[in-house]
Amino acid sequence: PEGLLQYEPRLRIDVLDRLRNASVLSAAQFDKDLLCEISKLSAYLQLRKYKVNRALEDKIMAAAFFEPSTRTRLSFESAMLSVGGNTISVADAKTTGVAKGESLQDIGQMFNSYADVVVVRHTEQLAVAELSEYLRIPMINGGNGSDEHPTQALADWYALLKWRPEIAFGNIPDKFKLNIGIIGTPGNMRTVKSFLQLALLFHENINHITIFSEMADPLGDGLRELCDASPIGINFSRDLQGSLEYLDVIYMNAIAFLGDGYRFYSEDFQLNADSKLKHDTVILHPLARGEELSTDLDRTQHNLYFNQADGAVWVRQALLLAIFDRVRNSVPDNLLI
Ligand code: CP
Repeated sequence: PEGLLQYEPRLRIDVLDRLRNASVLSAAQFDKDLLCEISKLSAYLQLRKYKVNRALEDKIMAAAFFEPSTRTRLSFESAMLSVGGNTISVADAKTTGVAKGESLQDIGQMFNSYADVVVVRHTEQLAVAELSEYLRIPMINGGNGSDEHPTQALADWYALLKWRPEIAFGNIPDKFKLNIGIIGTPGNMRTVKSFLQLALLFHENINHITIFSEMADPLGDGLRELCDASPIGINFSRDLQGSLEYLDVIYMNAIAFLGDGYRFYSEDFQLNADSKLKHDTVILHPLARGEELSTDLDRTQHNLYFNQADGAVWVRQALLLAIFDRVRNSVPDNLLI
């Protein structure tokens, strides 16, 4: 993480203050400044530079997961616990009143009484909007149906900015600007939708983004407008294997959650240690993986996906500290601007 702090080690507290008491529902809430400051704070936390041991000891986080999760729920809980915070969890909707037909409205009212922040994952895109009508505490979207997974995208970009800090803080010469490949359909895959929105913030240093998908129209309406307005060249292709020699970053995903079911990708979209990758290409994957990402890549220089999952704890801790306005208490004055 040190490299990420070499350009401007001080944190812009005015930028981080935008998250004070805020809900985090969409990647669209983040501009380049906010993404960079959260990434820098995450780097400090990962380096254990700041005294945050008990920073959230008076706070309770509810992790309300109405859809399965390994990383998101556990990394949020780990982030909270390691700064003295408290957690209550729903790991399975069947253990709540949902099993008896309880409404999200009533569940939202309960979160107001029992917690100071709630992280929600749900199979339904609309669940987050419904809950937010009734919540008086901040809500963090931990993945809502096929819509968004904003904190995953923050973790994705934290991994990429540690790998190449100049993407955010420098000027990459034209011939070395990044070519990114995204395997999936941003219009209805929440991780790639959130990842793509944040990628557009770094248009100075990204040359092309190629979206590899079997679908005729992988972008939804809102994303198409955003992509059309971006100076980054956005391409579409079905030929991943034939494009590998051009790609610096490959963002993979196991499955697309499409409404009420999952869609798996064909062999054409799989990578293994024999794939014709450039020697310095990195692979991101939000995990859990399927056959598309062979375990024989785990011990290669292409593996950024474990780093991506590790870093998620620090990104989520940074978010919680900013939401609860505890950055000032934890960081020496001379490191704030
Ligand atoms: N990346 C991600 O959302 O993983 P989980 O489904 O395990 O939370």
